[in-house]
Amino acid sequence: MEIRFAKEDELDRINELRKQVNDIHVEGKPDVFKPGFGAELQKFIHEIWNDPDKKIIVADNGEEICGFAVINHINKPENPFMKERDFLDVDEFCVDKEFRRQGIASELVSFIKAYGKEQGFHRIELNMWEFNQGALAFYEAAGFETYRRYMEMFV
Ligand SMILES: CC(C)(COP(=O)(O)OP(=O)(O)OC[C@H]1O[C@@H](n2cnc3c(N)ncnc32)[C@H](O)[C@@H]1OP(=O)(O)O)[C@@H](O)C(=O)NCCC(=O)NCCS
Repeated sequence: MEIRFAKEDELDRINELRKQVNDIHVEGKPDVFKPGFGAELQKFIHEIWNDPDKKIIVADNGEEICGFAVINHINKPENPFMKERDFLDVDEFCVDKEFRRQGIASELVSFIKAYGKEQGFHRIELNMWEFNQGALAFYEAAGFETYRRYMEMFV
């Protein structure tokens, strides 16, 4: 499995994986996520591609793109409450459902960690939806720890 940065002609395939994630989100949190994977969401991959702060990473088995991740360099300046924060955020992450539990996501995380270190980052962050317990189990297995929570109640 080769883990590397994506090529522009792979964006349509990456959109197939983005649709898998969107479907999971729609099913798990239908009060938030819009069903379908319409033109607007499909086009968004080009905004990601053209954003100098973002990078798309793929897992390529030689025949197919099996998984991808989007990483985003975030800098939050110091404010009266907080120190400056400069980190890599994992914006999107998916392994094709046909290729799960083969260690591909783990390889993607290893690549992101090595890249982050090489670029001088000391911290990688991500956020996820609580219903997605499979993703939580993976992220914890990969070494991520929860440091902050969003909570809600319906009234
Ligand atoms: C979460 C996801 C990326 C994991 O990818 P993966 O390639 O299957 O993960 P790995 O094979 O590297 O898993 C490594 C370890 O993580 C844990 N793990 C992974 N998926 C898990 C699951 N669904 N349930 C419980 N533990 C899981 C296991 O400990 C696993 O080791 P094991 O297979 O030896 O038991 C994949 O299931 C996925 O793409 N899900 C849909 C999209 C999604 O939810 N994305 C994240 C939120 S945006």
